[in-house]
Order: sequence, then C-alpha cells, then structure tokens
Amino acid sequence: MKLENKIVIITGAGSGIGAATAKLFGAHKAIVVVSDINLESAQKVVDEITAEGGTASAIETDVTQFEQVETLIEQTVKTHGQLDVIVNNAGIGGKHQLKTADHTHDDWHNVIAVNQTGVFYCMQVAIKQMLAQGHGSMVNVASLAGLKASGNNLSYSASKYAVVGMTKSAALEYGRKNIRINAVCPGFTHSALLDQLLSISPDMGDKLKRFIPMGRFGEATEIAEAICWLASENSKFVTGQTITLDGGTSL
Ligand SMILES: NC(=O)c1ccc[n+]([C@@H]2O[C@H](COP(=O)([O-])OP(=O)(O)OC[C@H]3O[C@@H](n4cnc5c(N)ncnc54)[C@H](O)[C@@H]3O)[C@@H](O)[C@H]2O)c1
Repeated sequence: MKLENKIVIITGAGSGIGAATAKLFGAHKAIVVVSDINLESAQKVVDEITAEGGTASAIETDVTQFEQVETLIEQTVKTHGQLDVIVNNAGIGGKHQLKTADHTHDDWHNVIAVNQTGVFYCMQVAIKQMLAQGHGSMVNVASLAGLKASGNNLSYSASKYAVVGMTKSAALEYGRKNIRINAVCPGFTHSALLDQLLSISPDMGDKLKRFIPMGRFGEATEIAEAICWLASENSKFVTGQTITLDGGTSL
C-alpha cells in the first residue's frame, strides 16, 4: 500500500482497532501520531511501532474537547508540515444494555459526545487543514450498528448512524477539493469494547456468534487492513463509502 512517509493521525489508538491500525500504518512506513485519551496506552503503542523500525509519537487527546482536537492537529502539522490522513476511531460502547425507555441519560450524553461529536470535531479541524494543503484522506470508524438495527443500545446506534451520515455528506462536499472521506463498519471484533459486551453474561459470546455466518469474531488487524487501504492512494477513486467487515453478519 502507498503509505510511506504519509503523516497519519489515529484517534483512540491506544487500544483495539486503533492500536492495530497504528501498527499497520507504522509497518507501511507511515509517520504515525498515536492519539488517545489515555497517554500511557498511546505511548505503549508508539514503543511497539518504533521497536519494529517505524516512526511514531504519542499525543494525549480527548476528542470530546474541541480545543484538544485543535491542538492535536496543530501540533502534528507544526512537527510534520501537513496532515495526509486522519482515522477517526475513538469510540465507547455505553455502560448499560437497556431498551430505549430505560436508556440512561448519562450513557446517551457520553456516547454521543465521544462517538458523534468527537468525530465531527476531528472531521472539521482536519478538513480545514486538508483544504489549506490541497489534499487529504479520512477514514471514520463507524460500525455495523450504523447500518442495521441493534437492540438495547440506542445511543451507540444513533452515534454510528451519524458517523455513516457525516462520512457520506462530507465526502459529497469535498470531492472536488481532493479530500476523500470513507468509513469502515466493523461487526463484532476482539477488543476491550467487545470484552465489555461479553462480560454481560457467560453465554453472550456463543449467542453473538450464532448471528455471524463465519462463526467467529473479527480481529482488530483485519479491520486495520481495510482502514489502511481506504486511507491510501490505492483507493484513490473511492469516497463516501462504507466497507462492512463483519464475517457476513449483515447478510
Ligand atoms: N470492537 C468491536 O466489536 C467494534 C465493532 C464496531 C465498531 N467498533 C468501533 O471501533 C472503534 C474502536 O473501538 P475498539 O473496539 O478498538 O475499542 P477499545 O475500547 O479497545 O478502543 C477504544 C479507544 O478509544 C479511546 N477513547 C475512549 N474515549 C476517548 C476520548 N474521549 N478521546 C480519545 N480517545 C478515547 C480509549 O482509551 C481506547 O484506547 C470505536 O469507534 C468502536 O465503536 C468496534
């Protein structure tokens, strides 16, 4: 993939899909800015990338804070001169699995703040930079929950439908400005977020796998492959698209 020397920011890259994506960009010789609300986990990912001969640095960012998002992008551009790629991956699942009538307002506000507003903030600041430099590629991490109904988690569903909508609408706006905006929609994928869901009951894993034609959960590295392809020039005629990686669950 054509990613050598590309300046890449990944949010929520201290764990799971974001960490796997940061490492894959590193392996493709991109210059990786590993951003997370948890600086310690981001630094661990940086250490792993550099141990493999890659180039990376860590920046602490809470994507719900607009000023922190501005600082992330300003600092990246100041250090590296431009921003070729941003992967808006930071996301949370919500603490409670409850139907809509019982959905807690805390979960609603927290999930929307990170998964929806956080992606909007990152898109807005990154697009301004990409407009100024005349190019850019963005990949948003949505979810199968942004394409199909999913019970007991309305805020998550709402936030991920929003990510798909923001991806398509912004892609329409900036196609002529040499800025491509795409999304991935993972199904159930091994990560801390999935572990949270599996901890609800001992048979949760088996229950979920019944809905997956391939009979297994995805690996973060499998999602990372699609993100890197969408970010790279190998997909240069692709914009406003979602790639579903779900072992067939959506079928
Ligand atoms: N794992 C799955 O089954 C699955 C399926 C579909 C979509 N996704 C999406 O993939 C993305 C990554 O999730 P994951 O599964 O790797 O989970 P994860 O919990 O392993 O990683 C999420 C990362 O986001 C960071 N984060 C949380 N709040 C943040 C904030 N306010 N600002 C910056 N960083 C923050 C966390 O510290 C963590 O490092 C999320 O957007 C999630 O919704 C995951």
